Amino acid sequence: MNDGDRVWQQHLLGIEGMSASNIVRVLDTSEVFYEVSRRPIRKVPTLRGKTVVTLFYEASTRTRTSFELAGKRLSADTVNLSVSTSSVSKGETLRDTVLTLQAMHPDIVIIRHAASGAPHFVARNIAASVVNAGDGLHEHPTQALLDAFTMRRAKGRIAGLNVAICGDIAHSRVARSNALLLRTLGANVRFAGPRTLLPAGAETFGAKVFDRIEPALQDADVVMVLRIQRERLGSALLPTLREYARAFGLNKARLALARPDAIVMHPGPMNRGVEIDYDIADFERSMVLNQVEAGVAVRMAVLYLLGADAGQSPVS
Ligand code: CP
Repeated sequence: MNDGDRVWQQHLLGIEGMSASNIVRVLDTSEVFYEVSRRPIRKVPTLRGKTVVTLFYEASTRTRTSFELAGKRLSADTVNLSVSTSSVSKGETLRDTVLTLQAMHPDIVIIRHAASGAPHFVARNIAASVVNAGDGLHEHPTQALLDAFTMRRAKGRIAGLNVAICGDIAHSRVARSNALLLRTLGANVRFAGPRTLLPAGAETFGAKVFDRIEPALQDADVVMVLRIQRERLGSALLPTLREYARAFGLNKARLALARPDAIVMHPGPMNRGVEIDYDIADFERSMVLNQVEAGVAVRMAVLYLLGADAGQSPVS
């Protein structure tokens, strides 16, 4: 067992250090909850009596909603702490917020924060299990897990797939977590983006790095398009969105460079007409909504693996 796996016993703070067997365990467990989520009654008693708190310091639609649904479908008591209406807006520190939550004895705390490492800080100051729902430019582990689940369902495997991750790599915790996971499971990862949006040392993720999109798309099985993060970009990094769309936007002509059965993924939210053309976002091999559906199943699996009592089955 390595350090990442030891952390995974109590928390999910990142993909870094997670073993292939533990990643596969999450994906296999997610299959059970994917089936549960398609039943007429989408609820199991697994986490009855457990308390799950979501604490989002940054905006979210998919991650926050799917964690809330995941907790509810597992019968946990789920509480969403909205930062804008909490005492954080009165200046309360993260540490005091965590100590306040600790006094209410939650079982699992899910946190998104603009500061890289914030979930690790919370984990050191609370008895609950902590799940990283996205921290700064660092990691978004459940996004990488749901992306892998979606790829495995669409392609039947992860090992050996050519996965092109395109766009604003430098500001993307999704790219980082995906590269770590995909390399661990034996996929070939390519990063493509303008030089200004490629992080220094991108090769250390085990990815092949391209400053044009076309060579990265050659024979790709999976094309993952990343959002241009307007909120984190200065004009020095990207002249105009129109220029970016012209040089890097995924359109039909570019997608034709990939394998004929290549799937298109995007973690959302999408900037249609910027990093992805309108018709590509909606075409039949776009997995965008499959990713959203997978998100609930994968987050149910994570909550079950962290929160269930020893020996408890996923659905009872
Ligand atoms: N992919 C993702 O994290 O989306 P949200 O910001 O809507 O949660």
